[in-house]
Amino acid sequence: MMRIAIIGAGRVGGALATAWGRAGHDIRFGVRDPGDAKHRSLAATAAASVQPPADAASAGEVVVLALPWRAAEEAVKALGDLRGKVVIDCMNPLVMRDGELGLAVGFDASGAEMIAGWLPGARVVKTLNQVGAETMADAARYPIRPAMLMAGDEAGAKGVVAHLLSEIGFEPLDIGGLKRARLLEPFGMAWIALAMGGRGRDWAFASVKPA
Ligand SMILES: NC(=O)c1ccc[n+]([C@@H]2O[C@H](COP(=O)([O-])OP(=O)(O)OC[C@H]3O[C@@H](n4cnc5c(N)ncnc54)[C@H](OP(=O)(O)O)[C@@H]3O)[C@@H](O)[C@H]2O)c1
Repeated sequence: MMRIAIIGAGRVGGALATAWGRAGHDIRFGVRDPGDAKHRSLAATAAASVQPPADAASAGEVVVLALPWRAAEEAVKALGDLRGKVVIDCMNPLVMRDGELGLAVGFDASGAEMIAGWLPGARVVKTLNQVGAETMADAARYPIRPAMLMAGDEAGAKGVVAHLLSEIGFEPLDIGGLKRARLLEPFGMAWIALAMGGRGRDWAFASVKPA
């Protein structure tokens, strides 16, 4: 059992809390207004507690960032000292430009590397940005384990994350250091383009090999 702090109790935060709660982990949501009635049913479903973000993050062994990108810098910097903690960044740095959804950073930078810069000493792993929240809630429904690529600088942190991903039905695939988040964020965008282009949201990429 691990203490998992999930910062942001929206679609992704709720789905991951449901899945990891089912696997027996201690889930703590970090939200701006813990007293807001909208968090009650979600917390009950996931058997989770609801706390201010910095309290949840300080208690968590693993801290999951499930915030909109536009809120990320201020909210992440307010989490306090996360040195030594495993931080999962599942955010896509999305921006609307000329009426089209795209990435705010890329090619020579990534949201995940920016997060690592805002959280000195945290063990940041980029993953869970390449499927919809529906898949995260219950990936075991698929006939093949959905692939879940991850990038991070530290093998120990990626080991923890790989285990957590496997527990909720994914096949973790380690693509290397955190710099490779520069590949994962556009890959997430490819999922979004297909989803918005008519494929819908309840599907995932898989990795297959010949028999
Ligand atoms: N939705 C998906 O299928 C999906 C899939 C993969 C990755 N992602 C990425 O995951 C992230 C979250 O997406 P989502 O769909 O879960 O978003 P969402 O449903 O809009 O939820 C965002 C959550 O963040 C909270 N929040 C906003 N500003 C905050 C702040 N300053 N401090 C603390 N909490 C704050 C919101 O709380 P309030 O209720 O208080 O506003 C809300 O609970 C995004 O970066 C997105 O790109 C989404």
